[in-house]
Amino acid sequence: MTRTLLVTGGAGFIGSNFVHHIVRTTDDHVIVLDKMTYAGNRESLADLPDDRVELVVGDICDEKLVDDLVTRSDAVVHYAAESHNDNSLADPGVFVQTNIIGTFTLLEAVRKHGVRFHHVSTDEVYGDLELGDPARFTEHTAYLPSSPYSSTKAGSDHLVRAWVRSFGVQATLSNCSNNYGPYQHIEKFIPRQITNLIDGVRPRLYGSGTNVRDWIHAEDHSSAVALILDKGRIGETYLIGADGEKSNKEVVELLLPLFDRAADDYDLVADRPGHDLRYAIEWSKLRDELGWTPSFSDFESGLEATVQWYRDNEAWWRHAKSATEAKYSAQGQ
Ligand code: NAD
Ligand code: DAU
Repeated sequence: MTRTLLVTGGAGFIGSNFVHHIVRTTDDHVIVLDKMTYAGNRESLADLPDDRVELVVGDICDEKLVDDLVTRSDAVVHYAAESHNDNSLADPGVFVQTNIIGTFTLLEAVRKHGVRFHHVSTDEVYGDLELGDPARFTEHTAYLPSSPYSSTKAGSDHLVRAWVRSFGVQATLSNCSNNYGPYQHIEKFIPRQITNLIDGVRPRLYGSGTNVRDWIHAEDHSSAVALILDKGRIGETYLIGADGEKSNKEVVELLLPLFDRAADDYDLVADRPGHDLRYAIEWSKLRDELGWTPSFSDFESGLEATVQWYRDNEAWWRHAKSATEAKYSAQGQ
């Protein structure tokens, strides 16, 4: 049966990848609710059919608007957030507002109207792991967020679980590792380095460059969320990952040769305060219970395709480049 999905934050990086995935793999109608902050981009949805995807510009904290849209929807998939750790160190207030109050507003609407809810969250709620430690995060790892961003995401996860237990809201949760792929804002690590290299600028590594992230392609994140929405058990949390651990230095060393530059042609810059050392996801619950596996198993070829996407889509990112770099240079980064 054809559904109407309300996708919050659907003009952002992962939300827009999810909307593309839904349009390609189902007959569903999608309503995107997006505030169009600096991170939202209409062009990320431009090639999708108008009769399948409707963009509503608005705030997830707007109770009346959210209520109206939830009554038109069979399910809500909640991506909207302030998402960048560095920004949360400079200006945390908007993170509390959007990530916590916004999630609360959505939960109250789905509670009132009995609508299915999926909450998209991050592995950063678990804090970090030691470098060189074989341990990975599991669904049972204790919450220990480090930054204003990750602590507001942790708060939103707790709200969702409380609304399930106290009010019987029909919700699932997922916590995913670092995404890469098309439509990612150039403030983030991989697209920042790619667009620097396109501009002939050396990549910038925070601190010693040894911090580790666990990379997954945004398309794999989307297929996992779509499956959890269809088949996930209510109240359950599923971790999403793809065995993609790499140090930041290793990522830059893979990027540089794609631009005919030496593998050590980068700068070490000021570290991020409170910088999490390492993330790693154990995703066997998703595999064993729902049968999900990632399709982008080769990070290097996924990265090459991502480089090509930024080369081919300069008009999508160019307008944001100088302001983004000015912000970083004011921070010594
Ligand atoms: P993004 O910053 O690219 O996109 C966020 C979108 O939300 C933007 O389009 C923005 O305009 C919109 N938005 C912000 N505030 C809003 C508000 N108050 N009302 C309505 N819309 C608003 O973020 P992303 O990287 O695509 O992340 C999406 C979600 O996935 C977030 O919840 C994030 O915590 C989670 N997540 C991200 C990653 C990652 O690697 N990027 C990994 C795991 C989980
Ligand atoms: O783990 C999931 C999280 O991944 C998501 O919840 C967040 O929304 C998403 O932004 C991402 O958080 P990170 O802080 O890991 O991503 P970011 O792209 O900001 O940085 C990745 C790593 O690269 C991190 O160790 C910091 C480092 N870095 C970042 C930038 C922008 C650099 O070394 N140089 C840079 O210029």
